[in-house]
Amino acid sequence: MKPKWSERHETVNEILSRYPEKRSAIMPLLHLAQEERGYIGRDDIQAVAEILELSPAQVESVASFYALYLRRPAGRYTLTVCSNLPCTLGGAGRLVEHLEKRLGVRAGETTEDGLFTLRLTGECLAACDQAPVLQVNGYYIHKAVPERVDRVIDALKEGVPIAELADRARLPHEEEHSDGGRV
Ligand code: FES
Repeated sequence: MKPKWSERHETVNEILSRYPEKRSAIMPLLHLAQEERGYIGRDDIQAVAEILELSPAQVESVASFYALYLRRPAGRYTLTVCSNLPCTLGGAGRLVEHLEKRLGVRAGETTEDGLFTLRLTGECLAACDQAPVLQVNGYYIHKAVPERVDRVIDALKEGVPIAELADRARLPHEEEHSDGGRV
């Protein structure tokens, strides 16, 4: 849904009230745009620039710097890699490299077939003991080593429902325990 900035005065003012300087609210406002529409459009850049009294180029530079902001509509499946510290120590960087190579996109982009969008989040996904963590839409893949993730991608391409991903993500030597779960 396209954010209706003209109807969001209350929320925008609440966000602005948290900061001594208007420009500090740039990321929360970009989050607001992305939450409502799923990505940040050019009109959102313009609206945020007007609210913060910045140039569109200044807002654009922040929106394009962080991989957590999507600049185009997301694919059917959003693959979100947790890049908070425990997951980074657990191999999130290697996982991102693997996904970029496997999907042929960079973080923040969507595959040409519209199936997958790759994202990073700096926010902890609250499963640090299972690092690195990959989220597929709302579904968690724990200990997301490349072999496991490849199985997940293959399953999604075959049309396997997300609810069945835990079975498909299991590696050959893992008979019993579950590898994923819903948020
Ligand atoms: S740091 Fe990744 S789940 Fe907490």
